Amino acid sequence: MKAMTYRGPYKVRVEEKPDPTIQHPNDAIVRVERAAICGSDLHLYHGMIPDTRIGHTFGHEFIGRVVVVGSSVQTLTPGDRVMVPFNIFCGTCYFCARGLFSNCHNVNANATALGGIYGYSHTAGGYDGGQAELVRVPFADVGPSIIPDWLDDEDALMLTDAFSTGYFGAQLGDIAEGDTVLVLGAGPVGLAAARSAWLMGAGRVIVVDHLEYRLAKAREFAFAETYNFAEHDDVVVLMKKITDYLGVDVAIDAVGAEADGNLVQHITSAKLKLQGGSPIALNWAIDSVRKGGNISVMGAYGPLFSAVKFGDAMNKGLTIRTNQAPVKRQWPRLLEHIQAGRISPKDMITHRIPLDEIAEGYHLFSAKLDGIVKPVIIPPSA
Ligand SMILES: NC(=O)c1ccc[n+]([C@@H]2O[C@H](COP(=O)([O-])OP(=O)(O)OC[C@H]3O[C@@H](n4cnc5c(N)ncnc54)[C@H](O)[C@@H]3O)[C@@H](O)[C@H]2O)c1
Ligand SMILES: [Zn+2]
Ligand SMILES: [Zn+2]
Repeated sequence: MKAMTYRGPYKVRVEEKPDPTIQHPNDAIVRVERAAICGSDLHLYHGMIPDTRIGHTFGHEFIGRVVVVGSSVQTLTPGDRVMVPFNIFCGTCYFCARGLFSNCHNVNANATALGGIYGYSHTAGGYDGGQAELVRVPFADVGPSIIPDWLDDEDALMLTDAFSTGYFGAQLGDIAEGDTVLVLGAGPVGLAAARSAWLMGAGRVIVVDHLEYRLAKAREFAFAETYNFAEHDDVVVLMKKITDYLGVDVAIDAVGAEADGNLVQHITSAKLKLQGGSPIALNWAIDSVRKGGNISVMGAYGPLFSAVKFGDAMNKGLTIRTNQAPVKRQWPRLLEHIQAGRISPKDMITHRIPLDEIAEGYHLFSAKLDGIVKPVIIPPSA
């Protein structure tokens, strides 16, 4: 089969790889019909994630058709069309039993914090991902769901991570009716969080980024009030000014460790490696939220940070909640919202790229060129 493979930082290419095979009775092999590139894949692409091995295939957002199932699989048969959550999870361990699918205890023997994620290095279990023609899906009775007939393929694809994660971000913000919600980052996760905040009763939704074309998308897709942080001396002072100097009620960090906007943080992280990335978006969230407010962190962070304003978070009495999204938990409600016409996740998609040209896709997405917001990958056999 053809598959995207990692060759080292900023280098990916399509190669022939052996077809995946059933390795456990509850595996399925899925022929990928659509995959996507996530902002999280950029952390891999930039060489920031430990134990990203040469030859690893990325891709944790994909839908496709079941080709073969293992002998114990009961819920799927060959020919079924499935959407596959980005988390690999067993469904029965202590954590899965409590809905913490992204923290499954049985799928990533190397880690005590992170569960299993398709195509996300050996740090996330070493599973090959879906930016390929075929992919092995472990726990086939647990993760995938059959795509309902009425659901558009591209909406289904956006539910495998980006939209569900944004929705989860808004859920963790514990938004009360009328709240002012600030979303940092106008990538797919931020856009989905902003759109979802309205569904949860927000009275005002603000999106901050420095890419003007993405802020335009935030206005159009998420009906948000937008600010370009590069045009203001201090985005935190700006947030205070526009909220009667109280601060926003809820802030959602949809940026993570590769944040722009602060030279000192950039030097201490990317250059000097004194911390696992720049926590500037998290610090802006801590500073912008009112006392007693909530912070939801969807942006991905490495384990160690030295310059997080934790004392301020403590003294302001903030509630900080975070996790990798347990995507399948969000699906029932999101399917209702799509069916009722309240949301259209596929409207985030800006690019449809053949698998053979995926290297160009990574380049565009990483460099934020050509108005790219969400790239979809189409395998030749789809
Ligand atoms: N928790 C989860 O389950 C989960 C799932 C998917 C993605 N993620 C993470 O969420 C983050 C966003 O993902 P994405 O796909 O939207 O990525 P993306 O790279 O497309 O978007 C990030 C956006 O943040 C903007 N930005 C950079 N610095 C900023 C700052 N200081 N303030 C405000 N905006 C800033 C960028 O310009 C960009 O538009 C990533 O860190 C990704 O790893 C987490
Ligand atoms: Zn992702
Ligand atoms: Zn489990």
